[in-house]
Amino acid sequence: MKTIKPKDRLIVALDVPSPAEAKKWAKKLSPTVGFFKVGLELFTAGGPETVAGIRALGADVFLDLKFFDIPNTMAGALKSAAKLKPSLVNVHALAGPEALAKCAETLKQLKNPPKLLAVTILTSFSNEELKKTGVKHGSAKMVSHLCRMALDAGADGVVASPLETKKLRDEFGEKFLIVTPGVRPEWSAKNDQKRVATPREAIDDGADYIVVGRPILSSPNPLEAAKKVVEEIS
Ligand code: C5P
Repeated sequence: MKTIKPKDRLIVALDVPSPAEAKKWAKKLSPTVGFFKVGLELFTAGGPETVAGIRALGADVFLDLKFFDIPNTMAGALKSAAKLKPSLVNVHALAGPEALAKCAETLKQLKNPPKLLAVTILTSFSNEELKKTGVKHGSAKMVSHLCRMALDAGADGVVASPLETKKLRDEFGEKFLIVTPGVRPEWSAKNDQKRVATPREAIDDGADYIVVGRPILSSPNPLEAAKKVVEEIS
């Protein structure tokens, strides 16, 4: 059984366009938040220094770059990513078992490597949209299938929507990480997230970490909002 402190279970998504803004947010939230997600928008704007800036504040980083390429290129990208000392990195499960195994192997050879998460099916996919790509199964079946494949290949866990978290826990047990975005406290707006759960529901369903962005960054009192989320999962 993993023991993660409530405070460490909250990952705040720094979906902002510049490293200066990201650092400002990380500083402001640091009394309550110790884990931040750096995604494609911020990393493309600010590069590795953005991650270094957040790490310098003593916070953990989930580097959410969702690599998807041939095995050798993905492994190389992960080696570069690991040098930035994030705690979590991710790749697309659809890159296949060979790529996932190579990624897992590559990270395991490093000293204090980040945990490897696999992205299954993006929550923006409807079943109709998925069919158009040639994937015949619905998303629920595909998510389970890809989760099994990723864990068999050596990934440490998956990114899963609140809709899938409980099912994956029931199916595959406790010994892997689930990171859940699409989390909305009762007091916040849903924005464009459709399949949402409250922080408490997500943790009760088996998420190890929750990713929360706009409910905190768009709140009139962001630090207070972050505190409320941590209190809810305590
Ligand atoms: O602002 P909000 O709380 O919706 O932010 C959620 C974060 O999680 C965003 O950075 C988004 O890109 C990410 N994410 C998601 N759904 C996924 C994978 C990642 O919302 N399936």
